[in-house]
Amino acid sequence: MHFSIFAVGLAAPAALAYPFVAEAPGVDASMLRNAGRASHEKRQGSCPFNSNHPGAAPYSSDYPYTGAQNGLPGTGIGGIKVPADGDTAHAFEAPGPNDIRGPCPGLNTAANHHFLSHDGITTFTELVDAQQNLYNVGYDLAVTLAVLGVGLDGDVLTGKLSLGCDATSRTSATGDLLGDELGLDGHNKFEGDTSLTRNDYYLANGDDYSLNSSLFAQMQDTCQGNFNRDNLAQYRYNRYQQSLAENGNFYFGPKAVILIGAASFLYELFPSLGPDGTPDLPTMSSFFEREQIPDDWYNRKTSYSGEDAVAEILALYLEHPVLFGGNVGPGDFDALSFGPITDGKLSSNSKDVLCLLYQLAVDNVPSSLSTVLELPLQVVQFATGKLNPIFEGYGCPVKTT
Ligand code: HEM
Ligand SMILES: *[C@@H]1O[C@H](CO)[C@@H](O)[C@H](O)[C@H]1NC(C)=O
Repeated sequence: MHFSIFAVGLAAPAALAYPFVAEAPGVDASMLRNAGRASHEKRQGSCPFNSNHPGAAPYSSDYPYTGAQNGLPGTGIGGIKVPADGDTAHAFEAPGPNDIRGPCPGLNTAANHHFLSHDGITTFTELVDAQQNLYNVGYDLAVTLAVLGVGLDGDVLTGKLSLGCDATSRTSATGDLLGDELGLDGHNKFEGDTSLTRNDYYLANGDDYSLNSSLFAQMQDTCQGNFNRDNLAQYRYNRYQQSLAENGNFYFGPKAVILIGAASFLYELFPSLGPDGTPDLPTMSSFFEREQIPDDWYNRKTSYSGEDAVAEILALYLEHPVLFGGNVGPGDFDALSFGPITDGKLSSNSKDVLCLLYQLAVDNVPSSLSTVLELPLQVVQFATGKLNPIFEGYGCPVKTT
């Protein structure tokens, strides 16, 4: 086992040392981009197109939820029934064949209840409002996740994002001038390996977005009806070992911290009343299998902030620490270093991890052991514009462009 890609970069040509890869002599960055392009093109033709684009249902003054509108902060005060009695605009409506859904059960559910546009083409503003109003996600975390989603997989000029497959023709105003907008299905941008219930991209011909019911059953086998931190830490560890053994292209990069964070959503956001409720099988079944808000469901009383999420990321990680990095071949793992990740190990300093969330949105981050995802200037400007006010407040070093 190697401990650092810096150390092995010289010996193993497959593992180019970040962050110099893009500028390294002999490395043709356009080749890397084309490789990424080829891998999604085969699905582009089959991305559904619904000519009816309703947008999220408007919030009425009768049912304001946390009062979040127009991408601005709401009250952060939850404990509110969702959908509220009488709020038929946010009733469940199953997606049709032309509606786009993808790897995120939280957002798929929000779209099924018209908190996001039901066709699955959503916007930054809808995402920031919906996360606050439906789940009582804190404004800071809601903005951070929406910036990551739109910045990595959507269009920063229109603010549009596909919840699943590549719908560039509808998310972009300029064609693919800024590159293809892969949607949330795009691999190693936001989506990554070792998901709870989705396949690794390379193990399933690119189907990294459908619910895999065997994986859902495996999760239940480990959690035994209690999807709490301890059991999910164990299940995530099992999934990591599974990918390590089975997936020759396994990659667990810096963005995997977000996926660790997503595991906390099962016990912090999905239960009725969040952490005051019960993370049981009927609840998980409702969000993962039906993508529907359970009956008689209330959002959490206090908002779930970025700092709360980082505390859970660290707690989950430290129960069963694993190395960040990836396979360069079957059974041949290289660790990586980036920001607060040193030789594959994540710092246990919560401020460092909080600031890493910022870095993931504004910096060029390795998207595999040999490639770096280079963010176009427009994306960096979009991300710093939204995130600097929030992360300056946390004392993170911010970028000026
Ligand atoms: C703008 C906000 C959000 C974006 C862009 C987003 C995007 C994503 C993406 C791309 C994944 C796939 C990651 C992977 O490879 O496993 C994912 C997973 C997940 N998301 Fe979201 N998400 C957002 C907010 C939320 C919220 C608010 C919730 C819960 C209320 C949620 C719950 C989950 C869960 C539970 C998973 C893990 C699914 C699994 O591993 O099987 N997400 N999200
Ligand atoms: C679901 O996951 C299992 C375990 O990783 C895998 O063997 C199976 O092929 C997957 N099924 C589908 C339909 O992708």
